[in-house]
Order: sequence, then structure tokens, then C-alpha cells
Amino acid sequence: MKQTLSPSPGLDIVIFGGAGDLSFRKLLPALYMAHAHDKLSADTRIVAVGRQAWQTVDYLAFIDTHSPAFIEASEFDQAVWQSFLQRLVYVCVDVTSAASFAALTSVCATPCLRVYYLATAPHLFSQICAHLHSAGLVDAQSRVVLEKPLGTGLASARSINQEVAQYFAEQQIYRIDHYLGKETVQNLMVLRFGNAIFEPLWRAPSIKSVQITVAESVGVGSRAGFYDGAGALRDMVQNHLLQLLCIVAMEQPISLDADDVRDEKLKVLRSLRPMRLADVKRDTVRGQYTAGASDGQPVAAYLDEAGVPPDSRTETFVALRLQINNARWANVPFFLRTGKRLQNRRSEIIIEFADQAFSVFGKSETSEPNRLIISLQPEESIQLAMMVKEPGTGMHMHPVRLGLDLQQSSEKRRAEAYERLLMDVIKGRLTHFMRRDELEAAWTWIDPILAGWAELDDKPRPYPAGSWGPAASSALMARDDLSWFEEH
Ligand code: BG6
Repeated sequence: MKQTLSPSPGLDIVIFGGAGDLSFRKLLPALYMAHAHDKLSADTRIVAVGRQAWQTVDYLAFIDTHSPAFIEASEFDQAVWQSFLQRLVYVCVDVTSAASFAALTSVCATPCLRVYYLATAPHLFSQICAHLHSAGLVDAQSRVVLEKPLGTGLASARSINQEVAQYFAEQQIYRIDHYLGKETVQNLMVLRFGNAIFEPLWRAPSIKSVQITVAESVGVGSRAGFYDGAGALRDMVQNHLLQLLCIVAMEQPISLDADDVRDEKLKVLRSLRPMRLADVKRDTVRGQYTAGASDGQPVAAYLDEAGVPPDSRTETFVALRLQINNARWANVPFFLRTGKRLQNRRSEIIIEFADQAFSVFGKSETSEPNRLIISLQPEESIQLAMMVKEPGTGMHMHPVRLGLDLQQSSEKRRAEAYERLLMDVIKGRLTHFMRRDELEAAWTWIDPILAGWAELDDKPRPYPAGSWGPAASSALMARDDLSWFEEH
């Protein structure tokens, strides 16, 4: 690896897949926000790399048409946008051809800190890294950001990791999971480790169950090409839901240093009870949406979406029951659930506390267990469900929620996940990115589920768009005498 001549103040953010969906929907709007809020130094350039035989002016026209719709209207200012566009340069590169990288070398002639954002299909990652290296564009301070999905299983994830590692050291690699950039997800750590009241209760037997839901109301949209080969388990559970699980279940790290935090998350992943075939059969539910309604409008079945093969068995919904083999979580069931075309867009974590061993008030129809309800999106709130006295004569109880609206709790601007994570990359902060062993541990647990489904020839269960998934998902919880939150 070539060493840098000297630290240089300049910064190039080089985006491969510069004209792709992720770039114009997320990355450029996030960089615009950073620019608008003076977070990018004057000498920061954004170098978009794409296959299209465009000049920079064509790319600017493309971005100008597509990106502003993804910037909050109250944050969009035409003059600021025009000054942002001046940072952009477009380079046409065929990433499969080493010779084609000459165009990039000439644009990147001056040494500076370079962040390579690989927003392309993962099978191109190793080629891009190899060609960057041979073109002399990788030095000890370069960073590479790898978008998910990183592989389709343990074997492919390992081989991508191995190949990228030939050109970048682990501390130069930023494996992104945008859920780790969400304000509410980062806040989970503060909630757990910055408040004295939770720690003594955050364990078995005080906690009876944990449920984590990431529900989407959107369908597959225009992404069938990718999604049909992936499905909800690879697209959402392997990364976003397991990362949320790690933050809920991990021990307090010894510091906020990236490796200390990631060591603790790794321990959770390694403690997940492995899924044998019988567990896959009993503890997992796959679903696929049929025609129904979303926001009051009729919507098509997954099988009728553009680009989906008519006999596809890809799951658009998954629910899982899992256990963590350690003392803190002994016998506490964790339930994960995610799906497209569900009733609403809602991500939440519900911590259900154990029933009281004894209560002088006895059990009444209105009594409910204490629950901590952490809403990640669209609302950002924390609520504690508790029992209070119903006003009036007698001593009757009724449930109420003690609530904290996180959006109202500070006047400060809440940056979007991609903006926050891009700034972390620029500043060299790895805490909110996945380490190689963490990613591989997640796949190690996921692979047997995929294999189990294949072996069982498991067909996804139909569920109407606009519902909460197949009935089997409720049955999965009912076995433990529990129910999903919306069923309470
Ligand atoms: C992405 C998945 O990682 O996350 C998409 O590939 C999904 O399928 C998206 O729609 C959800 O992200 P968010 O931030 O809208 O919850």
C-alpha cells in the first residue's frame, strides 16, 4: 500500500454508482445538507463515478432534476443548491476495466484524503478496490465505504471482505448500515447506559420479552431486480434488525471507542442460539403480500409488481423468535419482525417487563404489564406503559403512558442517517459501522435459516397488503402467551 506523502487538507468523496438511486435519493441530499450547514470544508469535492458517457454538465442536469425532491422543502435553498453543485465533478468509468480508471486518476491527481463510497452492486466491490489500488489511488489515509447488502450469505460476505482487505486495512473500511446512523438508534445507547434506572431491570427475569418491529407500508417499488433475489431476511434482518437487537441486548462497552462497542455487539451475535432445522420450522414465519390497500389506495400483489417473476417465492415479510444464550437474557424470547406493505410505516422496540409476583390490587381486566415502548420512526418517542389509579371512588387501575417526544426534546437540528454517517467517515469515526467479524457473525446466524427454508421447501404465506402480515406471525407470539404490540 502506498503511503501518503503528507496529510493534506483537501477531501474528495468519490461515489461509485454516482447516478444510481442511492446517490440521488440519499447521498447527494445528505451531502447537500452537510454543505448547507457548513460541515464540508471549502476544498471538499464530490466526484461522481458512473457508466454513462456524460460530462459533468450532464450529470449536474441529472442531479438537479432528481435530487431536490429528496431534500426537505424547508431546507432547500436554490442559491445554496447551486453552490453545492459546484463541488460536483462527474467521471465516466467502466469499473470492470482497469484502463478505464485512468479518467479517475487524472481527476484525482492532487494528493488528498479520499473517501470511496461504493454504492454499486456488491459483486463489483473487489474489482473497484483492485483497480483503485493499481491506479495508485489508495494510500494509508484513504477510506472505503461499503454499502449493504454485503454478500448474499456467509461465503460471499467472506470473500468480499477478504478481497477488499487486500487493498484497505480494517480501520479504513466503513461497512454502512444506515440504521446505525439514525438519531433514535444512537439514542438507544444513551437510554440504556446513560440512565441509572434501567440497568438493574434490563435483564432476565425482570424482562419477559422483547419485540423489534421494522414495518414498511411501501412495496418493492422499482427494486424488484435486487429485492427478488434477496428477500426480507437478507435485506432487513441480517443487518438492520440484528443491529437493533445488538444495541438492546449488549453489555455496556468499556468505552465508546469503535472496537469496544463492536466487541460487545459481536458477543451478542455470537450468543444467538443457532437455528437448527426444527427451530427454523417452529420459530420463523415467511410471508409475501397479496393485493390489498395502502393508505386507502388499492395496491398490487408482490407477484404482480414490475420485474417480479410470477412464481417468485421471495419473502416480503419475516417474523422470528430467537434466544440469546447468556445469563442476562436466559429464557427471554426476542421477536423480530419486518415486512413491506404492512399497515403503517413503524419501527419500534417493545420491552415487556415481567408480571408482578404479587399485587395487592390483584389482576383486573385493565391491568397491563409495564412496557417500555421505544418508537424509532416515524415518531421518535419513548413511552413507559404503567398503571395508575382511575379517578373516582374505589381503587381501580387503568393503564397510562408516560411519554417523551424526542423531536420536541431539543431545538437542535436532527440530521438524517446518511448525513451523520458520511460525517463520521470524514472524521474517521468507526463506531457506527460494522466490523468484519460482526458482519460475518450475523451471516453465520442467518445462513441456517436460509438453508432451513430451502430444505423445508418453505413457501411464503400470503398476507394482504395493508395488514400486519400472515396470521402465523401472531401465532408465533401466542405460543409464549404474548402478542404483537398492535394486538394489545
Ligand atoms: C434498506 C432496504 O436498507 O432499508 C430497503 O434495502 C428498506 O428495502 C430501507 O426500504 C428502509 O429504510 P428506512 O430508513 O426507510 O427505514
